[in-house]
Amino acid sequence: MCPPPPLLPIAFLPQLVKVFALSSFIVMLFSTILSALAGVSLAFAAPNLVKRQSNATAPAPSAINDTQVLQYAMFLELLEHHFYDQYLWQFDEAAFAAAGYPSWVRGRFEQLSEHEATHVEFLGGALGSQALQSCEYSFPVTDPQSFVAVSMALETTGMSAYMGAAALLSDKNTLTAATTILAVEARQAAWVSSAVLKNEPWDGPFETPLGPNAIFSVASQFVVSCPSSNPPLPVVNLTALTVSPAAPALGSQITLNFTQPANVGNSTLYLAFLRGQNPEFSPITDSGNGTFTAIVPPNLQGTIWATVVTNNTIAATADGNILTGLAMLEFPFNSQANNNVTTIPSYA
Ligand SMILES: *[C@@H]1O[C@H](CO)[C@@H](O)[C@H](O)[C@H]1NC(C)=O
Ligand SMILES: *[C@@H]1O[C@H](CO)[C@@H](O)[C@H](O)[C@H]1NC(C)=O
Ligand SMILES: *[C@@H]1O[C@H](CO)[C@@H](O)[C@H](O)[C@H]1NC(C)=O
Ligand SMILES: *[C@@H]1O[C@H](CO)[C@@H](O)[C@H](O)[C@H]1NC(C)=O
Ligand SMILES: *[C@@H]1O[C@H](CO)[C@@H](O)[C@H](O)[C@H]1NC(C)=O
Ligand SMILES: *[C@@H]1O[C@H](CO)[C@@H](O)[C@H](O)[C@H]1NC(C)=O
Ligand SMILES: *[C@@H]1O[C@H](CO)[C@@H](O)[C@H](O)[C@H]1NC(C)=O
Ligand SMILES: *[C@@H]1O[C@H](CO)[C@@H](O)[C@H](O)[C@H]1NC(C)=O
Repeated sequence: MCPPPPLLPIAFLPQLVKVFALSSFIVMLFSTILSALAGVSLAFAAPNLVKRQSNATAPAPSAINDTQVLQYAMFLELLEHHFYDQYLWQFDEAAFAAAGYPSWVRGRFEQLSEHEATHVEFLGGALGSQALQSCEYSFPVTDPQSFVAVSMALETTGMSAYMGAAALLSDKNTLTAATTILAVEARQAAWVSSAVLKNEPWDGPFETPLGPNAIFSVASQFVVSCPSSNPPLPVVNLTALTVSPAAPALGSQITLNFTQPANVGNSTLYLAFLRGQNPEFSPITDSGNGTFTAIVPPNLQGTIWATVVTNNTIAATADGNILTGLAMLEFPFNSQANNNVTTIPSYA
């Protein structure tokens, strides 16, 4: 493809730091990207799904075999691979420079792109004749900034997907192979978040494992259609949840939009803020005009995933029990902030 880009003078760096010191810029970036995602999802037909009632629980771990887990991983790797493959070439060195990024940013994205291509190759090799074919994808990318924001969302999603899939794998060697990819996804997410966006490299002492239903609700927003020959993924199609603003202030009121499930009666629903293994909950209030509200807890940091649940216990946040897809919320913190949200995880 392209020859390696020439290096820009290091004097360019202060300008970048200045640009990204504006936390409002990040807020805007994520609001833009997430509202774009919300719009995009409506137009898209979902890929093949295992047909289930929306209130059905996800398959129990033993019901999913390792081949299906690898197919699920390949679905995500194909998505990431096509993202970099379709969009990175659209923004050359000059475009990245004009957007305020030093030359090492694009160079690293080329490395990420190669990693994702290699992951696809690796999983395809492991699956052999049971490998998935590429779907057709669309990402809300119009410039280097939105490219970076989607990359951050995908790498963070990939990291959580591998963490959540660990419990689904029965073969320990396959698990070890998966962790070698998991660590790279986590380091890539950390690089985009801290080096490129000048935010936090981690979200606290624990990252958040997410199950296939939750992950699919995020990933499927970028999928236009998949070949009918692809085997169905072991996931349920959850109803969409949108939260605004996407980077709310701690303690503030946020607006939620989702379709209320029919089978939950009139009991109070909760918004679960998934973080590590220890979610926070906020009761949901029906505004009576088609939207809902909830209050953001005071102690969130980094990337937090929100979903609607039936009660305020950890059991309700299990992948088979969540009532909506995920919304990604950002609570950025810089290197001067103390990441002190070290609650001891409950293993209830
Ligand atoms: C799921 O919902 C359907 C109707 O909405 C109901 O008939 C069924 O019993 C529910 N299943 C479970 C497991 O709650
Ligand atoms: C895994 O499960 C799928 C779907 O039930 C099935 O088609 C496939 O044969 C299974 N593979 C193995 C190795 O058990
Ligand atoms: C999946 O859910 C989305 C809304 O979240 C909907 O637009 C889409 O039609 C659903 N697809 C299937 C196959 O049910
Ligand atoms: C809620 O979302 C639905 C579906 O995405 C959309 O049609 C509706 O306009 C939204 N409602 C509000 C109040 O934003
Ligand atoms: C919820 O529904 C039950 C039974 O349908 C009813 O007794 C109760 O008053 C309702 N509660 C509220 C707050 O509407
Ligand atoms: C719905 O009601 C809430 C609470 O009264 C209000 O804050 C919000 O602006 C309303 N939204 C719409 C779309 O009317
Ligand atoms: C620790 O977190 C709390 C919120 O949980 C915050 O109010 C406080 O300022 C933080 N302290 C430091 C030193 O960052
Ligand atoms: C909370 O909800 C989950 C399912 O979503 C259920 O299994 C659990 O029993 C509920 N716990 C309480 C205390 O209601």
